Amino acid sequence: MSKASEIPLFDPERQAEEVSDLLDAVKSLIIPFIASAGPVPAEVVTDNGQTKLKGEGSRGVVDAYEPAELKKILALELSDGGVGREGLLDLVKKTLDYSVNTWDQGFLDKLYASTNAVGVISELLLAVLNTNVHVYQVSPVLTLMEKHVTKRLAELIGFPAGCGGFSQPGGSASNASSIVIARNALFPETKEHGMGGRRFTLFTSAHGHYSVEKAAQMYGFGSSAVIAVPVDSDGRMIPSELERLIKEGKEKGDVPFYVNATAGTTVHGSYDPFTELSAVCKRNNLWLHVDGSWGGSVIFSQKYRKGRLEGIELADSMAINPHKMLGVPMTSSFLLVRSLLQAWKGMTLPAGYLFHANDSDDPEEVYDLADLTPQCGRRPDALKFFLSWAYYGTSGISRLIETGYDRAEYLYSLLRQNPNFEVISPDPLPCWQVCFYYLPKAGQKASAAGKEENTRITQTLVKNLVKRGYMVDYAPGEEGKFFRVVVHANTTRETCDGLVKAIMDLGESI
Ligand SMILES: Cc1ncc(COP(=O)(O)O)c(C=O)c1O
Repeated sequence: MSKASEIPLFDPERQAEEVSDLLDAVKSLIIPFIASAGPVPAEVVTDNGQTKLKGEGSRGVVDAYEPAELKKILALELSDGGVGREGLLDLVKKTLDYSVNTWDQGFLDKLYASTNAVGVISELLLAVLNTNVHVYQVSPVLTLMEKHVTKRLAELIGFPAGCGGFSQPGGSASNASSIVIARNALFPETKEHGMGGRRFTLFTSAHGHYSVEKAAQMYGFGSSAVIAVPVDSDGRMIPSELERLIKEGKEKGDVPFYVNATAGTTVHGSYDPFTELSAVCKRNNLWLHVDGSWGGSVIFSQKYRKGRLEGIELADSMAINPHKMLGVPMTSSFLLVRSLLQAWKGMTLPAGYLFHANDSDDPEEVYDLADLTPQCGRRPDALKFFLSWAYYGTSGISRLIETGYDRAEYLYSLLRQNPNFEVISPDPLPCWQVCFYYLPKAGQKASAAGKEENTRITQTLVKNLVKRGYMVDYAPGEEGKFFRVVVHANTTRETCDGLVKAIMDLGESI
């Protein structure tokens, strides 16, 4: 089976054997890949231009190359004859060798990390089933799992009876779908007739995710219809500013209809004040959506939802991404709604050639789930979160959230005690990212070095950290670019110690 020409394109008698053979072969490559992500970050050092690893069996977070170099190394090619079994395994090996190992302790980049055993198994199961969760007939079990897990999530938020949700291909998609549902719910005639000459406006915090603006472009509102609401010093949307901007818009003849609040902003991890924002929305008849793509999963922890998610149950809809905090494989995202009926009415377009069964007015009885969503073909991503929740249990997920906070708070305190760092994350730390400047002159403020110098320092250190076994990211700020380090539930305290030490070592020669 080594030459492609020897592989029959379709051989029903051999397909199980062929899958078994390849699975065994690939297993012998992926298990060492996972194992190479040690319990401590590999210290990757450069010695006379040669990259070396300190630490047995570890390959570091990535062997990093610029695109042109990597193109040469990979020499990607699609040939006429095919590469066959051995060629395929070579490609699998190369993919592993040059990819970022998110299982590695040193992977502290933005907002996700490796999956886990149940995550790998669930992806495998989806690949084997290779089905479509558009209609019940072709995915009966997966449809019921999606309905079950979204209902449980919506109930966990505290949404009333009649709540529910559906899976979406990412947080951006969940946010975008909420905008369509909101407009169609508040102005039902727009579903058929369009905007009718109105200038609809949407509000999001100045720290909100760009997906709201992107959706406004896609759905014909335009970027200028998205109004940024100022935030306070902790990065939280200011309700009185929202109300002022709504009033100003109405006076100009705009039609404000939608507010996107955030549970865990992308850069600082801040949680907006949902109770107050809900009151503003109710007074003005606006839809309140909560983008909890990043920090919404905190709902699982009684300890950490306090002070962060109060009032979340007052929202009309919420996005949540288990693929970020919870280690569910990419992508796992849900749009949860207070009223499934309202969401369904906003989305339904019952094409007769696809949907044969939806003759009830009760959305609980809708089993052809694509009719609730903008998609036709849909990946059954909900299975991955269902299995993960089933495996760990609610208290297991709660423990996971609390462990992530323990590590984030540990790193936060290490940095705050060290005069070579200026931490700019709010106090108390809202989420799992810690944002800071490195200060070459201990005790001096970042503002003293100036914007350009801070940007240079941050970018240089972030780049050099990869060679020390850590992958982190940065973001733009008032004093130039700053570090944004994101921990996860598997990050150890030793990794946090190691990161601070690595930055200090590298900082000496900056
Ligand atoms: C607050 C927030 N919303 C939405 C998104 C987009 O989610 P996705 O990448 O799943 O589209 C992100 C991504 O980081 C985010 O941080």
